[in-house]
Amino acid sequence: MMEFQHVYVAYSNNIALEDVTFSLENPCFLTVVGPNGAGKTTLLKAALGLIKPSSGSINVLEIDVLKEPKRVRRLIGYIPQMERIDFSLPFKVRDVVLMGRVTKTGIGRRFSAEDLRKARNSLEIVGLEDLWNEPIAHLSGGQRQRVLIARALAADPRILMLDEPLVGIDPTSKKTILEVLENLSRDGVGVVMVTHDLNPVMRITDYVLLLNRRVLALGRPNVVVSRENMSDLFGGNVEIVRMGEICYIIGGDVHGGSGARG
Ligand SMILES: Nc1ncnc2c1ncn2[C@@H]1O[C@H](COP(=O)(O)OP(=O)(O)O)[C@@H](O)[C@H]1O
Ligand SMILES: [Mg+2]
Repeated sequence: MMEFQHVYVAYSNNIALEDVTFSLENPCFLTVVGPNGAGKTTLLKAALGLIKPSSGSINVLEIDVLKEPKRVRRLIGYIPQMERIDFSLPFKVRDVVLMGRVTKTGIGRRFSAEDLRKARNSLEIVGLEDLWNEPIAHLSGGQRQRVLIARALAADPRILMLDEPLVGIDPTSKKTILEVLENLSRDGVGVVMVTHDLNPVMRITDYVLLLNRRVLALGRPNVVVSRENMSDLFGGNVEIVRMGEICYIIGGDVHGGSGARG
């Protein structure tokens, strides 16, 4: 699904990713976790070919991202961090979801019945079929996030990449999004989710990548999420509580950013 080899990314003098190496063979649910400034967004953008590493190689779906970034991007649904998107534009929900079909249809062509069907179906998957004609400006943050996921799904992605999709959204949207991701992953769609809060995905993620500029660990959630690893990653006092099969993280500077800067 995805392979990074000795990837370095720097912004002017600031090193965001340092010797990042990891590999995941089959489509799976990967959660990338780390404090603010850990390079999580940078890692996604590099995987999408939106940022060029200063050295190293990246393959996604067995395509060399540096050589064929556009081909890679056609296969990936990307949901960027919420606050970077302008929702003041006078679009309706259906316009936004149909944008996901433009990669298939090409700009300037009319939408086909298939495009409309696909868009409606994608909106249904995220539980918002009733909002088809609603102006996007009327929606809550969580609903907007679900619309953006529907837009990505309308393009039939092989991998969905989401950057902090659960931040600042209502519990219903949160629950729906997690269910959608779980189902997609079960259907063989790759999911790469960036977060600073692992607890909501502990049960559904296949692998966890602990990132703080470098890769601290990659593995199964219940193996990687140890007290030692999480303290290293976030700093401060961290406790791991096991409940049945699943463990949860308590405490630490999980929501702060002190661990990554400097
Ligand atoms: N466009 C940019 N220009 C300069 N520095 C940047 C830019 N984007 C990110 N950075 C820096 O790179 C580091 C990693 O950022 P980012 O990938 O956004 O981390 P995260 O998503 O984990 O919070 C941070 O130190 C950040 O300040
Ligand atoms: Mg980020």
